[in-house]
Amino acid sequence: MITNTEIEKRGNLFPNHIVDFKQENEKMYFTTENGVILQLTILRDSVVRFRYATELVFEPDFSYALNEDVNLGYNKLKVYDEIPEYVVTTSKLKIYVNKSNLKVQIANLDDVVLSEDELGFHWEENFDYGGNVVKMSKVSHSGESYYGMGDKASHTNLKGKRVNNWVTDSYAYGKDQEPLYKAIPFFVGLKESQAYGIFFDNSFSTYFDFANEKRNVTSFWADGGEMNYYFFYGPQMSKVVESYTDLTGVPELPPLWALGFHQSKWSYYPEKKVREIADGFREHKIPCDAIYLDIDYMEGFRCFTWNNRYFPNPKKMIEEMGEDGFKVITMIDPGIKIDPDYWVYQQAMDNGFFCRRADGPHFKGKVWPGECKFPDFTNPEVREWWAELYKEMIAELGVAGVWNDMNEPAVMEVPTKTANLDVRHDYDGHPCSHRKAHNVYGMQMVRATYEGLKKFTFPKRPFVLTRAAYSGTQRYCATWTGDNVATWEHLWIANVQMQRMCMSGYSFVGSDIGGFAEQPNGELFARWIQLAVFHPFCRVHSSGDHGEQEPWSFGEEITSIVKEFIELRYQLLPYLYTMFYKYIKDGLPMLQSLVFYDQEDTQTHFRTDEFIFGEKMLVCPVQEPNAQGRRMYFPKGNWYSYWTDELLTGNIERWVPAEIHRVPLFVKEGAMIPKYPVQQYVGEKEITELNIDVYFKEGTENSEVYEDQQDGYDYKKGRFSLRKFRLTGKENELIIQQFKDGNFITPYEKIKMSFHGLPFKIGMVEVDNEEVNPKDIKLNGSNSIEISKDFTELHIFGK
Ligand code: NOJ
Repeated sequence: MITNTEIEKRGNLFPNHIVDFKQENEKMYFTTENGVILQLTILRDSVVRFRYATELVFEPDFSYALNEDVNLGYNKLKVYDEIPEYVVTTSKLKIYVNKSNLKVQIANLDDVVLSEDELGFHWEENFDYGGNVVKMSKVSHSGESYYGMGDKASHTNLKGKRVNNWVTDSYAYGKDQEPLYKAIPFFVGLKESQAYGIFFDNSFSTYFDFANEKRNVTSFWADGGEMNYYFFYGPQMSKVVESYTDLTGVPELPPLWALGFHQSKWSYYPEKKVREIADGFREHKIPCDAIYLDIDYMEGFRCFTWNNRYFPNPKKMIEEMGEDGFKVITMIDPGIKIDPDYWVYQQAMDNGFFCRRADGPHFKGKVWPGECKFPDFTNPEVREWWAELYKEMIAELGVAGVWNDMNEPAVMEVPTKTANLDVRHDYDGHPCSHRKAHNVYGMQMVRATYEGLKKFTFPKRPFVLTRAAYSGTQRYCATWTGDNVATWEHLWIANVQMQRMCMSGYSFVGSDIGGFAEQPNGELFARWIQLAVFHPFCRVHSSGDHGEQEPWSFGEEITSIVKEFIELRYQLLPYLYTMFYKYIKDGLPMLQSLVFYDQEDTQTHFRTDEFIFGEKMLVCPVQEPNAQGRRMYFPKGNWYSYWTDELLTGNIERWVPAEIHRVPLFVKEGAMIPKYPVQQYVGEKEITELNIDVYFKEGTENSEVYEDQQDGYDYKKGRFSLRKFRLTGKENELIIQQFKDGNFITPYEKIKMSFHGLPFKIGMVEVDNEEVNPKDIKLNGSNSIEISKDFTELHIFGK
């Protein structure tokens, strides 16, 4: 047993006894004799912030992670001065603060301990840089599990792992490799079916140890800054994730085309090649909404320029692509080529916008264009300037979206792969070194890009994609998981990364389909597509070194499989859009790991492969070659096979067939899945009918369909259509009620319902108490009926 005194000797310092307590509304201050202050803030009854100062001084309170419109307010707050602790209570939690050592214990109202300090807060002075290495350790219980943490390429349950958050260009990363591209220092803990979350809002390099070093300890620490964490109580995981997502924000709705299929490569050029790819999609009748231009469209990799030999008339090309239903997305990197004749470089030099080293010279680093300087995006003036740079590209040339790459920032030919730690940053008026600004650098770049696009695409919605991210970056853009590899293992990684990101408040996410490095074979490519059409962001991208990676590059059989699945994605667009709407309205992740779906079922705690797409579809990708099927776990409830309508019970693992043209895909009993007809691109067709697949259930189930103009901001003024359906199935009847919200008039007049799993033959059908003309009922095979979109009650009676 190591005593505190021994640890102190090794450099760790601990708070001692409390000598003062003070309360100012929702904030409480506990001060120890040796100068530690714990500031405890009640944000909501189940959301509490813990901040620790040493030497009696807090740093200025500033964070890039937080959403300005966070919901605050609690119902109850009482503090009891007891022995041996203070007890702070809300209507959900009891927080015990020990008077002799400042250790904290958090329990629910039944006194079930949710989180308990082991050593609690302690610190080590940092003699090299000043300040402290701040540390927190908590007791970990044997059955406790840990989820979330952004893009970690590890088992969804992080128990037994140690991770590091330091955004890093990680070309061809491997399973369990640390650190990766994003820093999202938030995890969800699950202890005896009580879920809680911890968000350690500290932008320095942070570490989390989930019972790795010591079996019964979970700890987290940072190289500098403050011990500053938020605690969220569930008890449901959904509540924890919603609270974190509320605190750090959600994006606005993307344009619907951004949820379509996207095709990218490093690089499509010249213009002729870009058109050839676009034509390829239309010829093969494979839907696609966007084509990406990687760095080679630029002149000598200078951002905001065009290579005139490859792209003599970008405006014309983009216009013509637009006529054919394609959006063009361009890449912008942070590194600005050192070239006195280059206007972006000149402007940044003239205005002092580039980052400087500690002693004054500019920070220089090599990237694609050679030696570059890097704008300090943590300076609001720089962000404003950067946003304006997009004017020509967006407002004049018509580029529809931008991807910001290399924004860790990635620097070549240096062992650290990034900027020197002494580089200075403004940090919005809180000057600091790169140690503190590194993890938010890419976030602030993409924030500026977002502001620019928002302004110049107006009245349309912007689309921005980032590689690097810190908590809160989801407010500005979609993200992808960086330079993966065309291997089966990476297909597994892509699956866990997307689930994990969604659990971490960042739902608009996708992988480079097929793998960025190396070349997939047709089977791997098809299996990847079968997974990725169920990811919120769906884009093929590859390094291009090893050949073609277009949907038709792998022979006829694969082409037709890929086409079928991309078509399915386009059919499911209203379902996806509704998922997105719910994500931004309620913080509900677009993909749910099974543990999120049913935390009570301990079988789900270590599942990695299966996930819920939206709320109603269960997907389990095939992740190995030559499979004819696979074993998978069905969570609670009853599930229809999407392919055969066979009804299967849940809470059981079983083998399911999945030959190369099929992915295990199931629909929850009672679900109503909205579909559009297949289009080659969003907006190609006027939607003349909404199709809804209705999956019978004996009992009740609610479903929703959200629609609007698919772009623009009218939806914010109430011009949206939200259909809420309530399905009630009985032995010999089915009732569907519709409740409508919003005043957007959908372009179609009719809803076509197709019934799956009806246990009876359709006899009489009534809509709003009137019998439907039998000619509108198609019973042969498809079991469907067409009714007015404005119905309030559909009543089907069995024969
Ligand atoms: C690295 C990015 O991750 C990759 O997607 C891109 O193609 C290359 N940079 C070249 O721009």
